[in-house]
Amino acid sequence: MSPLAFTLLLILVSIGALGPTEAARAFFVFGDSLVDNGNNNYLLTTARADSPPYGIDYPTHRPTGRFSNGLNIPDLISERIGSEPTLPYLSPELTGERLLVGANFASAGVGILNDTGFQFVNIIRIGKQLEYFQQYQQRVNALIGEEQAERLVNQALVLITLGGNDFVNNYYLVPFSARSRQFALPDYVVYLISEYRKILARLYELGARRVLVTGTGPLGCVPAELAQRGINGQCSVELQRAAALFNPQLVDMINGLNGEIGSDVFVAANAMQMNLDFVNNPQAYGFVTSKVACCGQGPYNGIGLCTVLSNLCPNRDVYAFWDPFHPSERANRIIVQQIVSGDSKYMHPMNLSTIMELDFMT
Ligand SMILES: *[C@@H]1O[C@H](CO)[C@@H](O)[C@H](O)[C@H]1NC(C)=O
Ligand SMILES: *[C@@H]1O[C@H](CO)[C@@H](O)[C@H](O)[C@H]1NC(C)=O
Repeated sequence: MSPLAFTLLLILVSIGALGPTEAARAFFVFGDSLVDNGNNNYLLTTARADSPPYGIDYPTHRPTGRFSNGLNIPDLISERIGSEPTLPYLSPELTGERLLVGANFASAGVGILNDTGFQFVNIIRIGKQLEYFQQYQQRVNALIGEEQAERLVNQALVLITLGGNDFVNNYYLVPFSARSRQFALPDYVVYLISEYRKILARLYELGARRVLVTGTGPLGCVPAELAQRGINGQCSVELQRAAALFNPQLVDMINGLNGEIGSDVFVAANAMQMNLDFVNNPQAYGFVTSKVACCGQGPYNGIGLCTVLSNLCPNRDVYAFWDPFHPSERANRIIVQQIVSGDSKYMHPMNLSTIMELDFMT
């Protein structure tokens, strides 16, 4: 390229004449602690991960609010689509051009239902996350104009992770919880799925056109449940039953929505299978254990919170679980690898690499 052409290109880039389409696609994240990048840091809540040893393996080696020793699932998806990690929507740094990268609206402790996670006091319930998404769009309208903003949202990738807390932090939170007196488990699951359908339909109304929807993992097999309910280190039967009811109905609901829309907007990620691979056979994935959390106390390090006073493993890469509920960065990498290139057992109706090829061509 001649020096003149190069200078011209620099000018075009710097005045933004090449437009936002030249950047990586935007990424929006909704849901719970599995995908929260730090919104709860800005809230008066007990559901937080903003003190050590959280973040011990993050590039800064400091806590960020992510429920991980290092990167979480959205960070690793951002990496794969060539984007910066999404900033929490409540971060004061999320202004100007940084809005074009997308935003993370997730909040640890939330569920599909409003009453899920009530004990955490101030969390951003899913309805509020969607309201913030609308507010975000107003801000982007002001920045690049309505037409460009709409295109940015339509072309974006979206991730939503909900459901686990509706069991762990609601139905099974205490014996004889209000929801467990109201519903038998199969009826509760039907209710959850009907409410989740409304949430996904609303996301579509708000402009989302490619949405990864993760099912729940093996809820009964996390160190917290092994410690509280498991017998001899076996996964909790009740929580596994809940997940086994929820996940297939989620896939059916997604198929129904896509059918109505006439397009594969929603893509189901089989988080159950992705997790079970290393939970059932940790050694094959380079883990020494999938039962004991790296950070925690009590049996399986599964009791209470991960704090500076907890047991802490020296090498986080050989533990499938970082804390009593959340996978380690290495486990998150295995999960995201399947999201990107897993076959139909993991991703339905297609994986993220297929999505990126399809969307690149249109
Ligand atoms: C949850 O709360 C929001 C805001 O108060 C409300 O609009 C919505 O209808 C509630 N959802 C359910 C299922 O009750
Ligand atoms: C998923 O991605 C890989 C590329 O990494 C591709 O070869 C494969 O066919 C895809 N599977 C499905 C079911 O789309």
